[in-house]
Amino acid sequence: KHVTVIRGGISSEREVSLASGRNVIDALRQAGYTVTDLVANDDLGEIVRFLENHRPDVVFNALHGRFGEDGAIQGVLEWMNIPYTHCNICASAIAMNKKITRTLLSEAGLPVAKGKVIPAKDLIDYDPLPPPYVVKPVQEGSSVGVYIVTEHDDAARQEKRKTISEKWNFGPEMLIEEFIPGKELTVSVMDDKALTVTDISSAAHIFYDYDAKYTVGESNHVLPAQIHPQAFKDALLYAQKAHHILGCFPTSRTDFRYDITNESKEQPGKLYILEVNTQPGMTQTSLLPEQANFCNISYPELCAWLVEKASC
Ligand code: DAL
Ligand code: MG
Repeated sequence: KHVTVIRGGISSEREVSLASGRNVIDALRQAGYTVTDLVANDDLGEIVRFLENHRPDVVFNALHGRFGEDGAIQGVLEWMNIPYTHCNICASAIAMNKKITRTLLSEAGLPVAKGKVIPAKDLIDYDPLPPPYVVKPVQEGSSVGVYIVTEHDDAARQEKRKTISEKWNFGPEMLIEEFIPGKELTVSVMDDKALTVTDISSAAHIFYDYDAKYTVGESNHVLPAQIHPQAFKDALLYAQKAHHILGCFPTSRTDFRYDITNESKEQPGKLYILEVNTQPGMTQTSLLPEQANFCNISYPELCAWLVEKASC
């Protein structure tokens, strides 16, 4: 089979995608596929011409973020009738949008943090929630544009809101969520199976931010997570349910916060879903490959599995 790996793109996660794609290319070659490398820039015509010339059997979508994870490139590939990996247009578009995802998950009874969407221009004027709270873009990935407002002092907080407002270039709306103390967990789903729970700690960072995500050694992953057995089971179940509710196929990765304030032997703490990723990272420090490996699926096997599940 001839596979074209498309990577790069023009989202804020371009570098992540270049790294993800580089690893995928090597793995697919190792698995015996003929691979062509398509580094996507801002010219859609160039992408289309490349695909018309090469006519691959499958496009491996290694893009992240805007145009790569939100249904846009998926639409182009459907139009061209080329099977592609990961989720379809609809699931991609929904999962990329945290506002819609939150609504669908909470309607289905899954736990999300208390939150609201406000016009971005309003943040300068007032605290949308009592602090501490998190300010995040409605449609971004890799924690780009995420800020945590923790300041107790009113003047300091006002200053922080001003700084965020001035830097903001993530669209007209902001998602505000209460800050959940505790752990960061993640669960990957392959087909209908939730793989395991990873507990991610990044001691030198306030949260699992961009640098903690992609710098080797900046975060520590424990899998399977050493948490209350009931919370472990629930996290698997919630990830599987979220995968279904958003119509993900064949893979997704659901990220959680886990508040351990009231965790005891008798009682689990409280889980909150942060988001569902339809294009989970495939870099050296990424979580889906690590969980797959834990389940005895090697990195090349994971990539080959994605290729074989491709459709359009
Ligand atoms: N958005 C990044 C790539 C991830 O979720 O892994
Ligand atoms: Mg994400």
